[in-house]
Amino acid sequence: MGRITVLDVNGAERRVDADADRTLLSVLRDDLDLTGAKYGCGEGQCAACTVLVDGQATKSCITKAGSVAGKRIVTIEGLARNGKLHPVQEAFLEADALQCGYCTPGMIMGAVSLLRRTPNPSEAEISIGMNGHICRCGTYPRIVSAIRAASKKGARA
Ligand code: FES
Ligand code: FES
Repeated sequence: MGRITVLDVNGAERRVDADADRTLLSVLRDDLDLTGAKYGCGEGQCAACTVLVDGQATKSCITKAGSVAGKRIVTIEGLARNGKLHPVQEAFLEADALQCGYCTPGMIMGAVSLLRRTPNPSEAEISIGMNGHICRCGTYPRIVSAIRAASKKGARA
């Protein structure tokens, strides 16, 4: 499939030299030192590796780097602006919506994507929208509370 030499990550053109068949997660973590997206299952079953690609929540462990060349990639490291956390990040902190934190970056990226599609989701819509995000610590109730709180704050795109 060839090689890729540049990716648009967190608003900047990042130089890489990677086999286009490698996973996006591998390139982000190993080549660009963006370790917020986590390796959980490695096969699309847990969403710990979720990033945004052109605004869509995307499991980076099953996404080829070559397939996202030229698209806008946002990782958890790119959410804060001017030193201020994204409202979804703030809401997760305020609701204490994490225990070990391993799922949290993926949860937050999934929630950001959900709130873009559905700015004021019901609990049922959050459950459906976050389907596939696994939290081994079982903090689901607080995660739902955090997403509802973020929606009330008008979490920005
Ligand atoms: S690590 Fe990507 S879905 Fe589990
Ligand atoms: S907080 Fe531990 S896996 Fe979710």
